[in-house]
Amino acid sequence: MHFLSEELENYVAQHSQSEPELLAKLNRETHQKILQPRMLSGHFQGRVLSMLSKIISPKNILEVGTYTGYATLCLAEGLTENGTIDTIDNNEELFDFQKKYFEQSVWKNQIVQHLGNALEIIPSLNKKYDLVFIDADKENYINYFQMIVPMMNKGGIILSDNVLWSGKILGEVKANDKSTKTLLEYNKLVNEDERVETVLLPIRDGLTVTRVK
Ligand SMILES: C[S@@+](CC[C@H](N)C(=O)[O-])C[C@H]1O[C@@H](n2cnc3c(N)ncnc32)[C@H](O)[C@@H]1O
Repeated sequence: MHFLSEELENYVAQHSQSEPELLAKLNRETHQKILQPRMLSGHFQGRVLSMLSKIISPKNILEVGTYTGYATLCLAEGLTENGTIDTIDNNEELFDFQKKYFEQSVWKNQIVQHLGNALEIIPSLNKKYDLVFIDADKENYINYFQMIVPMMNKGGIILSDNVLWSGKILGEVKANDKSTKTLLEYNKLVNEDERVETVLLPIRDGLTVTRVK
């Protein structure tokens, strides 16, 4: 679903920073070879992630849901000199594709790939984070949030993708639609939880910015 007309979307992209060459290559190869390429953040949202990361200047970043690594590389752009980004995905078929692109980047020694179920990997990470991007299975957004809040540094930012879920959060929810039900609960939770403050940006499929107090 497009919330803006295609014409306006093009204007917005054209008047934002252009897509770095490595990311354009990754974007193209994902569309040519990998299933469900619309999962990739893409040019405009990628530049938003990069800009937010540069503003925050995080030492430690966590990404839940790597896919082909597009957002990982965008988020890495803001890392401090000795900072690291942990990125988790449970699809082993994507691991070598991600690695191939990470190794071509200047952050190759700062990106840590984790293969497996994020629900099991997150509790094993013994770190405090300044920036987290939640972008994996929607059914587990609340579980991820509850695990991650205690792992955040004060003032840290949690970004959550797809919170408008193509507008489905407004319609009647089918009994078996667990993703939409969870996202409705999630959007309410992050806006009411007293440990955090939240603003929902209507960017692409909805991107929530949550600051941990
Ligand atoms: C929307 S894609 C991530 C897109 C990526 N962040 C980007 O912006 O380019 C979601 C990814 O989450 C992964 N995923 C889904 N459930 C997961 C789980 N329980 N643990 C780890 N990864 C999971 C999928 O394999 C998929 O690659």
